Amino acid sequence: MKHPRTPKPSAVVSRSGRFAEGPSQEVARFSQSVSFDWRLWSQDIAGSIAHATMLEKIGVLTRRERRDIVAGLEDIGREIQAGRFTWREDLEDVHMNIEAALTTRVPSAAKLHTARSRNDQVALDMRLWLRDEIAALAAELRALQRALVNLGGRHPEVVIPGYTHLQRAQPVFFAHHCLAYVEMFERDAGRLADAAVRLNECPLGSGAIAGSTLPLDRGLVASLLGFTDAKGRPRLTRNSMDAVSDRDFIVEFGAAAALLAIHLSRLSEDLILWASSEFGFIRISDAYTTGSSLMPQKKNPDIAELTRGKSGRVVGNLVSLLVLLKGLPMTYNRDLQEDKERLFDTADTVRSCVRLTAAMLDHTTVQPGPCAAAAKDPLLLATDLADYLVRKGMPFRQAHHAVGALVALAEKTGRPIDRLTLAEHQAIEPRFEADVLGLYDLTRAMDRKNLPGAPGGRQVARQLADWKRRLAAGPGTSTR
Ligand code: ARG
Repeated sequence: MKHPRTPKPSAVVSRSGRFAEGPSQEVARFSQSVSFDWRLWSQDIAGSIAHATMLEKIGVLTRRERRDIVAGLEDIGREIQAGRFTWREDLEDVHMNIEAALTTRVPSAAKLHTARSRNDQVALDMRLWLRDEIAALAAELRALQRALVNLGGRHPEVVIPGYTHLQRAQPVFFAHHCLAYVEMFERDAGRLADAAVRLNECPLGSGAIAGSTLPLDRGLVASLLGFTDAKGRPRLTRNSMDAVSDRDFIVEFGAAAALLAIHLSRLSEDLILWASSEFGFIRISDAYTTGSSLMPQKKNPDIAELTRGKSGRVVGNLVSLLVLLKGLPMTYNRDLQEDKERLFDTADTVRSCVRLTAAMLDHTTVQPGPCAAAAKDPLLLATDLADYLVRKGMPFRQAHHAVGALVALAEKTGRPIDRLTLAEHQAIEPRFEADVLGLYDLTRAMDRKNLPGAPGGRQVARQLADWKRRLAAGPGTSTR
């Protein structure tokens, strides 16, 4: 292929000769995105290097031009990293800022945008950015799961009431409660991993909407940028129109992140309750709580409260993204620029919530005294009494009724249910025998709950060991 002459640096990033004048300052400010999309700089540079490599291969760039372009991009990357790069609002976005800076230094960089549009460029940058972000978040999520396993594992013997309707229901090991969240976060990790697989397709080569008439090697670019399948084959977007306007991958991440944020919020709520004087099940260390400016005695679980509160904005971001896309005609529309702040805010918020929650859990101690005081409520074992009668051949509905009568008797006589005599038990239901009183022993009660998934001692010990093994595999790895 013939090499066109490179223009003078002055013409470098003007979009065309069509415009007689530039936008007013107010318009420039309104439409700029560089104040937030500068964060895509390393992805933008990586994409340009891959594109330049491919352009050389197909003869658009000489070897030397490619070398100069790559060296110039690497220089710019170092300057940005060192905080020495001047971002210009009048150059609108990260793509034009980098290209303009490059072209001033390396005139042949005017060829870099061959067969590329900012539409496929930004689609590429966002996919690259999100791929890295998901990997980083997945690693932090593993650390959070580990913190929960450790917290439960530090006190494998502690029992607390499990609650439904926030009313005491049945006794569970504290570790079982912690492991419930480990399961939720495991599903979150799975959703993030799924999203990462689906977004791993290279859109470059889609151009503005309709690809290019030049013989691009899309497979090479995809391979260079790691858009490959398990067998190392390049993965390419299959429709140029879809590729430049698709933001599903951002919505998918936003949805997975929103659910993760909701799980964090629920965990926060449990921690807030547990840290209250009313529960007293845990103590969060000073470094992760704050005092009150007025009340000297206060120690507030602000990290947990903020995590609960911040779930609101993550959910809001998801809704914003969905509404942003609704009703957009094909293909690229400038509206899509609005995706970035929502994406960045969700990613930053969720990642800091995950990290701080993990750190807070590492600095949280279980208080066995208050846990034991709450767990010894014998009413927590009312269901076990009904099961006892079922074992004696009674239909469950009748058993439920009989135990209900026993609870009523305890209430009426003002005694705990386990203080009712055998005779009183038998007066309500003759099938109660002497061994019924042994049912109120909490340790033995916990030993009885050993179905798979149940909160019994052996089960929970197994689950703890299992999770420890799975999570030891290291960050970002699948635990199955
Ligand atoms: N800053 C733009 C965005 O975030 C980049 C793509 C601009 N494309 C365009 N045709 N104006 O969407």
